[in-house]
Amino acid sequence: MKSLLFSRFLLLLPWVLVVIIVLDIDSSRAPLPALGPRGGGGGRAAAAARAPPAQRREPEAALPTIYAITPTYSRPVQKAELTRLANTFRQVARLHWILVEDAAARSELVSRFVAGAGLPCTHLHVPTPRRYKRPGLPRATEQRNAGLAWLRQRHQHLPPPQPGVLFFADDDNTYSLELFQEMRTTRKVSVWPVGLVGGRRYERPIVENGKVVGWYTGWRADRPFAIDMAGFAVSLQVILSHPKAVFKRRGSQPGMQESDFLKQITTVEELEPKANNCTKVLVWHTRTEKVNLANEPKYHLDTVNIEV
Ligand code: UGA
Ligand code: MN
Repeated sequence: MKSLLFSRFLLLLPWVLVVIIVLDIDSSRAPLPALGPRGGGGGRAAAAARAPPAQRREPEAALPTIYAITPTYSRPVQKAELTRLANTFRQVARLHWILVEDAAARSELVSRFVAGAGLPCTHLHVPTPRRYKRPGLPRATEQRNAGLAWLRQRHQHLPPPQPGVLFFADDDNTYSLELFQEMRTTRKVSVWPVGLVGGRRYERPIVENGKVVGWYTGWRADRPFAIDMAGFAVSLQVILSHPKAVFKRRGSQPGMQESDFLKQITTVEELEPKANNCTKVLVWHTRTEKVNLANEPKYHLDTVNIEV
């Protein structure tokens, strides 16, 4: 009797295995979302563990890393801005966020924020010298340079090729997820339109036969690269092969930072137009209204201390 049961079991076993394998293949055929979703809060490792097998089969390692350099400074809206940004960046595969505080030391607020951001972050700081903290002077020069220095230092000892793309992501702008798909294929320097900037609904590079031939802008059209900081990305190779390219304080006029930097690494003819030949706005130069704190008490009145 026992041996009869055992032989039945042996007979069924291969069929059970076949059913299991077929079910597994079926579930791994589930459609692939365009950008690869990220689980909330749990961070990279947790998100990868939850991802269906189809996404694990497409190795993320094949994608160039996108490095986003974000200068940031302490003010009432800082945490809100960083939260908006993290919520976007967390949904982008292989994005490394380089947050550079404009401060003499890392703040507790940003340190805590970075620890819970749920994406790979590097937290740097450098203070803007007091003499440069004046209206009309370019902002975040030192912070972007600190980000560049970190990137060069990190990669100088690694052998090429190191596929990567750098872009400058100010903390108050609004970024669509499509923007990251576009910039990911940057070979040298890529460009695209920016919404709500230059006193117009948008600014954009004018493209003819796949090449940038001019700029649609309402402000200082004489700029060699009439483009906002949010309107371009640079390949890591270009950053590494131009080790001296930095943002300059000396002689730098307002609105010329982008041109001063880009002319050290590229030419207008060489630019790669993205976003359907620069006809789509995928990033907006939004600016957050200064918050009204008219009724904030001078001295702490609440019974608890709350980080905002
Ligand atoms: C425009 C451009 O979009 C910026 O890229 C450029 O740096 C800036 O002009 C400039 O004049 O230099 P705008 O919206 O006027 O941008 O500048 P902010 O958004 O106020 O500042 C740009 C970035 O620098 C932000 O990420 C902000 O957090 C940071 N920042 C600003 C500092 O780190 N320190 C400051 O004192 C001010
Ligand atoms: Mn801004």
